[in-house]
Amino acid sequence: MSNHETNSPHQSESTKPTERLEPAKVEMKRKATTKKFFDTVDLGSEMIHLSGLKKVLSNRPILRGLDLTVYKGETFVIIGYSGTGKSVTIRHITGLMYADEGSVSVFGRDVTKLPPAEYAELRKEMGVLFQSGALLNWMTVFDNVALPLREHTKMTETEIRERVMECLKHVNMQDAGHKFPSEISGGMKKRAGLARAIVFQPKLVLYDEPTSGLDPVMSNQVNELTNHMRDELGLTQVVVTHDMNAAYMIGNRIGMLYNGVMEQVGTPDDIKNSKSAVVQQFISGATKGPHQVV
Ligand SMILES: Nc1ncnc2c1ncn2[C@@H]1O[C@H](COP(=O)(O)OP(=O)(O)OP(=O)(O)O)[C@@H](O)[C@H]1O
Ligand SMILES: [Mg+2]
Repeated sequence: MSNHETNSPHQSESTKPTERLEPAKVEMKRKATTKKFFDTVDLGSEMIHLSGLKKVLSNRPILRGLDLTVYKGETFVIIGYSGTGKSVTIRHITGLMYADEGSVSVFGRDVTKLPPAEYAELRKEMGVLFQSGALLNWMTVFDNVALPLREHTKMTETEIRERVMECLKHVNMQDAGHKFPSEISGGMKKRAGLARAIVFQPKLVLYDEPTSGLDPVMSNQVNELTNHMRDELGLTQVVVTHDMNAAYMIGNRIGMLYNGVMEQVGTPDDIKNSKSAVVQQFISGATKGPHQVV
């Protein structure tokens, strides 16, 4: 474990418990335009807890004892180089991969060895936005969003219509339900994917590279929506991204995955002011540093 690993917010300079408990300061933070860590986060409630997670893939240790806690109401951003195991981490949370060692707890429940069929039930409480948006090209946006409800619930078409329109409204796509994926922009595809991710009204949403391939304006639209999901729907979110602009805009906390563990976890300011050479190289994009670019 590195010296910079501060997986608990209690260890972070700008998030000291004393500061957290002082009402005047909390009130001041509330007045800020962007919601900050303690405005939304319930530190008493862990939504995800990974402990000592290890995973070997193709004879390579990818996760080497990863510890990670995500609290109710926060957006936790995972950053890190390509191939470091960010998506693998997400797959352990969604039950698509199982730990070699260590434990995974979701919604306070130990799911380390939960059988796939039971995981499928639990997964209804989690929305996932895949990198590609994963829309089916032969279906309209409306039908793509409706599909999980049609396949996994006994809701009537009227109830489905109501739920789908509500989700499309959250992503500002209420007028685009009739369009096919080929007829909409990359940003709209991501937004439609997000509408589908929240169709079961989940408590937790996981995003894998939500802004990749999008221009800066579309990226910001998606970032604003991510904040909307947290602030208006009270969702807890985990976002994997390389995009530091996005990380700073949406993250209550940011964790950098490196060598199979969290190199550092902290608020955006902690990360910007990081003393870790690994973190500094990543956020500045420097080609020289501890991370060898080949
Ligand atoms: N099912 C699998 N079988 C074997 N190796 C895998 C499997 N899934 C991932 N890997 C390997 O594990 C490593 C981590 O993969 P992962 O997809 O988590 O990286 P990542 O951090 O998400 O990278 P990127 O930023 O490029 O998406 C990679 O070397 C990848 O090739
Ligand atoms: Mg990935």
